[in-house]
Amino acid sequence: MAFQLQGGALCAGPVSLARIAEAVGTPTYVYSADGISAQYRRLEAAFAEVPAEICYAVKANSNLGVLRLMNELGAGFDIVSGGELQRVVAAGALPETVVFSGVGKSEAEINLGLKLGIRCFNVESAAELQRIARQAERLHRIAPVALRVNPDVDARTHPYIATGLKENKFGVEASEAAELLVEAERHPWLEASGLACHIGSQVERVGPYLEALDRLLDLLDQLEASGIELGHIDIGGGFGVTYQDETPFEPRELATAAKARLNGRPQTLVLEPGRFLTANAGVLLTRVEYLKPGKKDSQHSFAVVDAAMNDLLRPALYQSWHRVERVLPAGDDALTACWDIVGPICESGDFLARQRELALAPGDLLAVRSAGAYGMAQSSNYNARGRPAEVLVEGDRFRVVRRREHINDQLALERIDADG
Ligand code: LLP
Repeated sequence: MAFQLQGGALCAGPVSLARIAEAVGTPTYVYSADGISAQYRRLEAAFAEVPAEICYAVKANSNLGVLRLMNELGAGFDIVSGGELQRVVAAGALPETVVFSGVGKSEAEINLGLKLGIRCFNVESAAELQRIARQAERLHRIAPVALRVNPDVDARTHPYIATGLKENKFGVEASEAAELLVEAERHPWLEASGLACHIGSQVERVGPYLEALDRLLDLLDQLEASGIELGHIDIGGGFGVTYQDETPFEPRELATAAKARLNGRPQTLVLEPGRFLTANAGVLLTRVEYLKPGKKDSQHSFAVVDAAMNDLLRPALYQSWHRVERVLPAGDDALTACWDIVGPICESGDFLARQRELALAPGDLLAVRSAGAYGMAQSSNYNARGRPAEVLVEGDRFRVVRRREHINDQLALERIDADG
């Protein structure tokens, strides 16, 4: 467990979150290195009997401290931008461990990938394949490519994060993927290296993965019949986690079923988990600023905290549920009510949680749980708020791995004079 109560105080390992809040202030993201490592090892152990590689989806949490830890654990990386590639390199990882996903790779991003020598481009359209081929030829670098197939599989998740249905913008149809791989195989500057897919995020059942894998394996047979041998099959990420009371599948379930289907084939299975590795290893620490108890039964009671939708967008964007816990026991002055936990931003969508039975007083510290994935990564400067600090707890020590933003960080990018 990344976070647990010790003598009534919520801690990351032996480190009290209250101590971190005292030292660093709030709002602050706190990540547990032990929590991340435990999830990584759990996934690795589940796939021990399958030739498999874990490429961490950087978009979930791209803090350099987290990336460095992933690199130390032995992960590769799944990226979607030149910026993410530069972060991975800055964290000390090797470009040849990187797969590059995404529907809109720019020329500059493709060139960066080629020059650094990434493991593979996950290609999402015929036009992208042509662009990669052109740039590879120009730079005299061989471009390894995998084709991302849209398997038309229903991942049964929130519509914004379902990606494997034919109405989604991702990937190409199986038949087109086969044609493009044949084209790649013939091209002097392209190397056909794999098949890929990603069906969605926060997927709780194993069935949709197996449906997608079956489609990829059919395609692999077809390609083999035309003499094309691929090195890997990438089944994407999206492995669900528990936020409230969800019971997502165990990775071992997927590994066992995948092993049976692969049936001794030589291809490596690539996994691209993000949330699974980091979500429950992170919390957002925030402090209660004001209480606005409802005067009548019909009125809501609001606890206004110092974190907002610019810090953690998931509740506003996907109506997602995050557990909110006190960091220390309640004092005598605490008021018990069913609170809406809201931020200072001028929008009614600015809430972190709704209708939570808690005893609260102004100044109390709260931890918003399961915030280690798509928390800081989706933060913004909305309302000219500085982004929060980030802290990594390793063993009995904690470290600020990103300092809190100062208003000067925002002002430094802007000009009001004409000749700027
Ligand atoms: N691979 C690809 C190609 C992806 O598009 C994604 C996520 C992943 C891997 C990692 O998915 P994960 O294992 O983290 O579920 N902001 C949303 C999630 C968006 C996911 C986008 N793609 C959220 O907060 O729920």
